[in-house]
Amino acid sequence: MRVCVLISGRGSNMESLIRNADGYTIEAVISNKPDAAGLRVADGLGVRCMAEPSLDGIRDMMDGMRPDLVCMAGFMRILPADLTERYRVMNIHPSLLPQYPGLRAVEQALNDGATSSGCTVHFADSGVDTGKIIAQAAVQVAPGDTSDTLAARILEWEHRLYPEAVRWYAARLAAEGGEGPAVRGRDRQMIRTAEPERAASHAAEMGVAYVRRDGDSYMISAEKPTVPPYVAVVPGDGVGLALERVRRLAATDGSA
Ligand code: GAR
Repeated sequence: MRVCVLISGRGSNMESLIRNADGYTIEAVISNKPDAAGLRVADGLGVRCMAEPSLDGIRDMMDGMRPDLVCMAGFMRILPADLTERYRVMNIHPSLLPQYPGLRAVEQALNDGATSSGCTVHFADSGVDTGKIIAQAAVQVAPGDTSDTLAARILEWEHRLYPEAVRWYAARLAAEGGEGPAVRGRDRQMIRTAEPERAASHAAEMGVAYVRRDGDSYMISAEKPTVPPYVAVVPGDGVGLALERVRRLAATDGSA
C-alpha cells in the first residue's frame, strides 16, 4: 500500500510513520511550508520530499502519484472536499475527538479542566478534525501539567497509534484484494490541472484518457466527455504525443 504524508512542521508523526512502515511504503512527503523541519528529516531517511504551498498544487501532485492513502501528520490546512473524496485520507489529532477539535487542542483540554485527554486517528473529510474515528489512546492529565508536558505525553501515544492505524488499513486493503479506493475509483476519476505538461503525463499514464478544457484548466478523465471539444489519448501515445494533442486542444479548442 502506497502512502503519501502531508506535513506542515516538525514531522515527528511522519518520522514515526516512516520508521515503523510495515505493510505499507511511504511514497512521498509533501509540506505546504518549504522550511518545515520535517522535510529534512524525511530527506535524511531517504524518502522523496517536496514543498508545495498551494492546495491545488498538492492535488496535482497526488493525482500524479495516486497513493492508496494520504496521511495528514501535523498538516495545518483543511483539505478541500474534492481531495478527501478522491483519496482515502487519515489525520491524527491530539485530543479524544469529538472533544477539542481545531488548534491548540491540548491547551483547550487543560483550560476546560479535563482530567484526561489523548489522541485520535480518524478518516478525514473536509471538516476541521471530523470524520470516522479509527483509533484513540487516552492519557491522564497529571497535577501540575502544562500544555507542553501533557502534549509531550500525548505525542508518545500518537507515535504508536498512527503507524498502527495505517498498518490496520493496509491489512484491510490487502484482505479486500489489495486495491485502494483511489485505484478502485479510477474509472470515475477526474484530474484537473492548469499545466499542459501535467495534463499530458496524467493522460499518458492512464492509458485511454480524455482531455478537455474547463476554464483555464485541463480536465483528464477515463470517461469520454459527452460533448466536444476534447482530445483522446490512447496507450502507446506516450507523453510526447499526448502533449501534442493537449496543445492542439488549447490552440483550436476543437475536438480530435
Ligand atoms: C501533533 O500533535 C498532531 O496531532 C497535531 O499537530 C502535531 C504535529 O506534530 N495535529 C493537529 O493538531 C491537527 N489538528 P508533528 O509535526 O511532530 O507530527
